[in-house]
Amino acid sequence: MRAAVLVEPGRLDLQDVVLDEPGPREVEIRTAAVGLCHSDLHYIDGTFSTSLPEILGHEAAGVVTRVGSEVESVRIGDHVVTCLTIFCGHCRYCTDGHLSICANRSALRKRPRPVATTPDGTAIGTMSGIGGFAERMVVHENGVVAVPAGVPLDRACLVGCSVLTGVGATTRSVRIPLGADVLVVGCGGVGMAAVQGARLGGAGRVIAVDISPAKLDAAKEFGATHVINAAHQDVLQAVRELTGAGVDFAFEAIGRRETVEQAVACLGPGGTATVLGMIPDDQPVRIPATDLLFNEKKLQGSFIGSNQFRTDVPRLLELYAQGRLKLDEMISMRLPMDHINEGFDALRRGEVTRAVVEV
Ligand code: APR
Ligand code: ZN
Ligand code: ZN
Repeated sequence: MRAAVLVEPGRLDLQDVVLDEPGPREVEIRTAAVGLCHSDLHYIDGTFSTSLPEILGHEAAGVVTRVGSEVESVRIGDHVVTCLTIFCGHCRYCTDGHLSICANRSALRKRPRPVATTPDGTAIGTMSGIGGFAERMVVHENGVVAVPAGVPLDRACLVGCSVLTGVGATTRSVRIPLGADVLVVGCGGVGMAAVQGARLGGAGRVIAVDISPAKLDAAKEFGATHVINAAHQDVLQAVRELTGAGVDFAFEAIGRRETVEQAVACLGPGGTATVLGMIPDDQPVRIPATDLLFNEKKLQGSFIGSNQFRTDVPRLLELYAQGRLKLDEMISMRLPMDHINEGFDALRRGEVTRAVVEV
């Protein structure tokens, strides 16, 4: 099959790859569509490292073509969305309903043979056990969820990462009281989904921050009530002018130490800041400790929206069917896999909310 492989940081290489057959609890999926996420770009640009060569891509949707002997949750022909929080279902976190931090998530991706190889036998890994930049994927059954066959797969794929992350962070990682003030820093696919989640969750002011005027215009379409251009405005001062003491909830959807610190600074007393972005090099975040104590501020992370994706993905697609969750508008570029690097160039330049590869 054809796959876009990261051989060394820089660009993806289109290659012919041999995919292994599914193991007992794995499924083979014919990829239909896959979103280009900044998490993929972190590995392409080398701001995060992984063992190479690897097939990146994790925001994918497709059709099940084969199932392993023990697979129970999906059948051949099912339309599925992948999610990178593969869960075991029986560890202390899973049984407590916190699937996104499953204790066995890495163990579940280990397999006796490499999932893919070059024609001459060199092992190729798959990102997060998915590897969506390929014509087919072999994924653990607990990394997929079946979706109604009528949902267009180019839109369904977005729910697997950016939408689950942004909406989950604003609805599962925190509970927003009706009318509370929300700040979303960074309006890419993840941030735009957080804007939508805040609106759906009953927020009052939804203040979106970005450095691109086009992104800020789009954020208004997704439900932002106010926007701040961080390239020209002092974000903290602008937030205080709008809210007085600061916001009740802030979400960092870029992956920068400085903007995490900014999100905490923009909180009012009792506020909670949630980190969605991947910050390179394990950089420490510096926040004034007395701000935590005297103002009872909180700082937390949300991994893929603290999701329970088997429940969340169908629910989110129902909200899409009702016209309450915007997915069509999130796609600002479509391209075939041969042009995947152009999609990442556009993402790097901050030009797209989501680029989707149609495989
Ligand atoms: N201030 C405000 N906005 C900024 C700044 C800044 N200093 N720097 C970049 N941005 C904006 C960009 O203009 C872009 O709109 O942040 C947005 C980032 O969006 P994407 O590149 O589309 O990233 P996305 O896929 O949404 O992921 C965001 O979440 O899952 C993680 O790894 C992912 O760290 C990444 C983050
Ligand atoms: Zn992602
Ligand atoms: Zn588990």
